[in-house]
Amino acid sequence: MAILVTGGLGYIGSHTVVELLNNNFEVIIVDDLSNSEKFILNNIQEITGKKPIFYPFDLRRKELLHQVFDAHTIEGCINFAAYKAVGESQEKPLDYYENNLFTLINILQEFKNRNISNFIFSSSCTVYGQADKMPIDESALLKTPESVYGKTKQMGEEVLKDFANAYHSKICLLRYFNPIGAHPSSLLGELPIGVPNNLVPYVMQTATGIREKLNVWGNDYNTEDGTAIRDYIYVVDLAKAHVAALQKLMTNTSVETTIDIFNLGTGKGSSVLEVVEAFEKANSVSVPYQICDRREGDIEIAYADASKAEQELGWKSETTLQEALKTAWNWQKYLETKTN
Ligand code: UFG
Repeated sequence: MAILVTGGLGYIGSHTVVELLNNNFEVIIVDDLSNSEKFILNNIQEITGKKPIFYPFDLRRKELLHQVFDAHTIEGCINFAAYKAVGESQEKPLDYYENNLFTLINILQEFKNRNISNFIFSSSCTVYGQADKMPIDESALLKTPESVYGKTKQMGEEVLKDFANAYHSKICLLRYFNPIGAHPSSLLGELPIGVPNNLVPYVMQTATGIREKLNVWGNDYNTEDGTAIRDYIYVVDLAKAHVAALQKLMTNTSVETTIDIFNLGTGKGSSVLEVVEAFEKANSVSVPYQICDRREGDIEIAYADASKAEQELGWKSETTLQEALKTAWNWQKYLETKTN
């Protein structure tokens, strides 16, 4: 019995594969390496002492996916495979809709034809837009996301709910807040392509001197220091939530449709300047920055009410912002030794 992990060599995917292997799941990775590197597979093996089965192909290739399902007894899927760059999604909407939705539908077709249940979907807090009240719980109103990327997440959720209702399946939608950090071994972490869009990778590249200064997008928000607030969740904590969610689905023997939805965050908001300060403190480095205009599409504030995950999954975030930022920096140093 195996769990299919699509995008299993990516940032959150690879950390989750490690947690699954540590919990004795058999793991099959499908990843087309479009936003990941093959060396991550070896590093997963180095951390866990186990080598997951790996298929390098694009999930839009239905016939190859079909062969994987023929070759293994797959009991569930965690679907990380998706394009995720917000800005790029505006420039290439068709690529995003095609990749993020067709791949999902192709896996669900196999699930339907083989009567498989247990599907976990990587969703995002972007489905809430600027929520009306903080912290955000799972009953908050969904708003049409600003980006095509966000829309693919919201549409993916709808596809899955309809799938679960029609075929009495068990699905789980995990809405991540802002994942940060790297594995404590420094063998796994985020690999941004080109100029990073997200805050922590940009902070790291500024601290190493690859970037001259961090652009802080706006200090005229209605927050204490004027910069926008997010809920930064440590990637290993996030990975552990996937195992807990999978175990909950798999031990649920009811034949009823199950649609679980969980917000995954720390419950605490941090401003951009607080992240910069925490990074500097954690790593004894300085991060030069300048204040710029607001970035288009950004919201003011978002942090999670993650109490449902604590009650129903027995999961909660355990790692502080500073600890997470320390692991991020160690990963950056590891990457430098690899390229030198
Ligand atoms: N920020 C900067 N400078 C940077 C990068 C980011 O000031 O160079 C700020 C942003 O303006 C924002 C905060 O840091 O206030 C966090 O920005 P990120 O880009 O790291 O994360 P976002 O909250 O914008 O992105 C998250 C998820 C996306 C999702 C998006 C939707 O990472 O997957 O929310 O709003 F699509």
